[in-house]
Amino acid sequence: MTTAPWRIERLHVPASLEADDATDFIAAGDLSNLVEGLRWGNNDHWVSPGVRLAAAQPSPYTGRQGFVAKVDGRVVGHADVELPLTDNEDVAYPYVIVHPEYQRQSLGSELYAALEECMKTASRRVFMAWSDHVADFDVDAAGGVRPHSGPGRLPEDSGVVRFCQSLGYELEQVEWFGVLYLPIDRDAVAAAERETQRVAGGDYELLVWQDRCPDDVVDQYAELRRLMSIDIPLGELESKPEVWDKARVRESEEKLLKQTGHSLVAAVRHRPSNQLAGHTIVEFFPERPEVVHQEDTLVLNSHRGHRLGMLLKAHNLLRLQELGPESRRLYTWNAAENAHMLDINIALGFVPAGYVGAWQKKIR
Ligand SMILES: CC(C)(COP(=O)(O)OP(=O)(O)OC[C@H]1O[C@@H](n2cnc3c(N)ncnc32)[C@H](O)[C@@H]1OP(=O)(O)O)[C@@H](O)C(=O)NCCC(=O)NCCS
Repeated sequence: MTTAPWRIERLHVPASLEADDATDFIAAGDLSNLVEGLRWGNNDHWVSPGVRLAAAQPSPYTGRQGFVAKVDGRVVGHADVELPLTDNEDVAYPYVIVHPEYQRQSLGSELYAALEECMKTASRRVFMAWSDHVADFDVDAAGGVRPHSGPGRLPEDSGVVRFCQSLGYELEQVEWFGVLYLPIDRDAVAAAERETQRVAGGDYELLVWQDRCPDDVVDQYAELRRLMSIDIPLGELESKPEVWDKARVRESEEKLLKQTGHSLVAAVRHRPSNQLAGHTIVEFFPERPEVVHQEDTLVLNSHRGHRLGMLLKAHNLLRLQELGPESRRLYTWNAAENAHMLDINIALGFVPAGYVGAWQKKIR
């Protein structure tokens, strides 16, 4: 029997990038950058070691465990799992990455086995993972691997699809991964904003902030963040509401700033009830100013049908173009069955950049 050339070791989060044990952490990040760059054919998903280190710091809301696989001291594989600590305590989010030179030699499966052991030890019984796919196939064609809920498919000959299936995961949803090339025509977005403002009527007013939610609306904003975790199509993914309060909002804002990131938030307030009725968030990092991520967009159920989703997004886009003039590509993700959100994105000019498979495995 031949022995594998790699050794699997625990990956520790170092105190700083200069610390003696920082080498593996930095190398694991480099490996992610390499594999992401090869997949997408660009560096839009590149993240610096400093930002990765700030993101990996312990938080009261998420635990994390990781492993690296090394050959002669060189990191060739990385596996990591996020463990929610204050809600969804039976859920875990694993991720495995293997250097192209070492793929298809069972390293991914070995790294995953180490993670699954951790997940079980942490009393998790629902594992969720996401696979990324370049948009080089027809997502609506017949055949392929189909999700339990919603439209779309993934190619059955994709390596990562086979990998997930080989580990006992089932495809629950296909998500749309879109990109909007910036700058877009300011006048057209401003016209869309005026039109939606007219339809929404005088009952609604916009509130905007950067990086820190104003104190007087932070409790309401926490409630929107909570609802965002469940008030979207989730198919059969066993997600339970996240617990959000003022402290968690503040922690997430501070964490983003520690990662050198910034958020632009637009919210809409229903004047008669003085309640926030929806919000949208974009995030960007000065280390890669041309790339921006669209995060949450939510309009409360009772306020839907007033074009508030488009109002929020159009308004925030105009601010983004003003405050981040170097922005060139805005990326977004949404479930393929989230038709209203998809319609808004397509109307704004988003085009498909790829697809994401949402996978789930449940154990007894
Ligand atoms: C997905 C990934 C981690 C797999 O790692 P790996 O070390 O190549 O996986 P393994 O060798 O353990 O493969 C286990 C099984 O998965 C399937 N599989 C993996 N890659 C495959 C490929 N390219 N084509 C077909 N099947 C494949 C096979 O069934 C394989 O078993 P077999 O070789 O006995 O047929 C690796 O391709 C990778 O890093 N991809 C980029 C990052 C990523 O997408 N991670 C997964 C996120 S959920």
